[in-house]
Amino acid sequence: MQLSTVLVAVLAAAASAAPTAPKVIIHDARSAVDSLGSLSGYFNTLAAKALAAKIANKSAICDLSKASMPLAPEALPVPSSGLSLRHVAVGRGTQNYTCDTSNPSSAPTAAGAVATLFNASCVAALYPDLLETIPGMAVHFDISAAQQLGPTGLVESGVHYFTNATTPFFNVQTLGQEIGQAPCRKNSTSPAPSGAAVGQQGEAAVPWLQLTTRDGATGGMKEVYRLTTAGGTAPATCEGLDETFQVEYAAVYWFWAE
Ligand SMILES: *[C@@H]1O[C@H](CO)[C@@H](O)[C@H](O)[C@H]1NC(C)=O
Ligand SMILES: *[C@@H]1O[C@H](CO)[C@@H](O)[C@H](O)[C@H]1NC(C)=O
Ligand SMILES: *[C@@H]1O[C@H](CO)[C@@H](O)[C@H](O)[C@H]1NC(C)=O
Ligand SMILES: *[C@@H]1O[C@H](CO)[C@@H](O)[C@H](O)[C@H]1NC(C)=O
Ligand SMILES: *[C@@H]1O[C@H](CO)[C@@H](O)[C@H](O)[C@H]1NC(C)=O
Repeated sequence: MQLSTVLVAVLAAAASAAPTAPKVIIHDARSAVDSLGSLSGYFNTLAAKALAAKIANKSAICDLSKASMPLAPEALPVPSSGLSLRHVAVGRGTQNYTCDTSNPSSAPTAAGAVATLFNASCVAALYPDLLETIPGMAVHFDISAAQQLGPTGLVESGVHYFTNATTPFFNVQTLGQEIGQAPCRKNSTSPAPSGAAVGQQGEAAVPWLQLTTRDGATGGMKEVYRLTTAGGTAPATCEGLDETFQVEYAAVYWFWAE
């Protein structure tokens, strides 16, 4: 059997063993290898940690004051003083782009993004190492009809889209309870670290960002960080591309509020 066939078979088996089996999409052997590594690693880590949590039987397991963002020194501004962490979500969706098809050597232009948010607050508080592996794995899940993030079991906690070209917007709610709405602007950007997870077809990871909220934010939302990105970047040129296209991505979003 071809190596790639074995990988796909193993991935399919791993995926269907989970309660809500996601469709794992494999277009590229390199990302399949990455995905296999993080997927099996995830199940092993989760099993060990679920057991540890059961033994400890801690009730306050989602204490966000225990969570800390994996910010490299000086890469992005730290959260403003007086803010506290309100929510952590894994975002899974697409980065959108447009192309001037009359000029194939031109570069694609960013045209917003659309993503579903999944509540990762407890994981961030308890298992930061595990959280770091989720985007690289999640970028391979088809979540179009899902309310959970594949075998991670993380539940939906809102949506992310753009209200205009410069306004990324987030509506964060858990179990029908509103946490806050955050119309934002980009304040600071930093390249994804080397070794960041690639996308379904080997696309590099989109930059890490600090966003600040605009007028109209609710729930005291002030700053949003997009970290631990996986995939999402466009090809260098528009050669062979459509006028509009999407690139699958995942990231961890950190919501800070006053
Ligand atoms: C934790 O303890 C409570 C009460 O002491 C018990 O009802 C619950 O089942 C325990 N949870 C786990 C996961 O063992
Ligand atoms: C989701 O996250 C919040 C904190 O941001 C937490 O208080 C809540 O219990 C979580 N809900 C679920 C269903 O995981
Ligand atoms: C991005 O692409 C998605 C999927 O095709 C589409 O639903 C959404 O409207 C697009 N968003 C923007 C801002 O272009
Ligand atoms: C985009 O929306 C924001 C928030 O509503 C607004 O302040 C800004 O002027 C808009 N920008 C453009 C180019 O329309
Ligand atoms: C926005 O970015 C600038 C430059 O990186 C930084 O000096 C400033 O503190 C940031 N604003 C906030 C609210 O963090």
